[in-house]
Amino acid sequence: MEERIVITRPIPQAPLNWLREEMTGADVAVHDRDDLSTSELLKLCVDGTSGMIVTLADNLSRSTIERLPESVKVISTYAVGFNNIDLEACRERGIAVTNTPDVLTDATAEVAVGLILACARSFIPGDALTRRGEFNGWQPLLHLGHQVYGVKVGIVGAGRIGQRVAHTMHHGFDCPILYHSRSRKLQFDESCRAEKVTLEQLIEESDIISLHCPLTAETRHLLGASEFAAMQDHTIVVNTARGPCIDEAALVEVLRSGQIAGAGLDVFENEPELAPGLAELDNVVVLPHIGSATYRTRDAMGWLCVRAVAAELRGDTAKNRLV
Ligand code: DGY
Repeated sequence: MEERIVITRPIPQAPLNWLREEMTGADVAVHDRDDLSTSELLKLCVDGTSGMIVTLADNLSRSTIERLPESVKVISTYAVGFNNIDLEACRERGIAVTNTPDVLTDATAEVAVGLILACARSFIPGDALTRRGEFNGWQPLLHLGHQVYGVKVGIVGAGRIGQRVAHTMHHGFDCPILYHSRSRKLQFDESCRAEKVTLEQLIEESDIISLHCPLTAETRHLLGASEFAAMQDHTIVVNTARGPCIDEAALVEVLRSGQIAGAGLDVFENEPELAPGLAELDNVVVLPHIGSATYRTRDAMGWLCVRAVAAELRGDTAKNRLV
């Protein structure tokens, strides 16, 4: 039986070439379209498949994992988040799972900070107005927004990316930092003069709220109607983590009524669908999940994945093994 490594989406060429050389004799099969249903994924994983490189768009639930051939030894996800993979089911099957932390911290933090600025200063409507030829000269009251310097930033989930955003906002924009996280981060407290608070306090006091928590049963709909109701009317919410952390229908309502000032979203509850009405609002900035989408970062993610697959198939333990 021929050994096979399945890659569910096209990845950068250099790591792919390396994997093909490293795994001489193996069929490295890349699914070359962006769409792939679970049944198509299972069809690609024929007997003999030992390694898989998957993405956050692939649903690796228990039932999918249980239908993979016995030959699968490693699943490497081309992402830091792994909410789409049932780790327990993988552990039971003896399948190693790896992810790509660290290399995407800066890129994702850049997008979060960009969304904060774009929302606060209404870049997108300003761009549209100018393109429509409606900029008729400087005016004292034209296109006013909210100043970012010095406002209170609330970070939900103070992991690598959350801390990076906080660092930029504190050291670049003089923003006091509140954070909500399971544990206290002493070094972070010191380096950003950050204060660990309850989610309720963060929601009530922050002028900008940026989500950086993983998606779990506890964080699903972490922000919904009652949390939005407790925010200030100038609050801006940014989500570069996972869409379902926000109740998107409730968000549409509060953006529509002006109950909060704006939202910047790189992720969506039912990705790639947007909640009805979201795209019509001009106080929201929507991006196609591009947090980690820089050439440098996507290359680095590719290298982590191929090296992890090769290591596990050689019998070594890959660097970023989750189980
Ligand atoms: C991740 O890695 O989890 C991001 O959402 C995509 O890079």
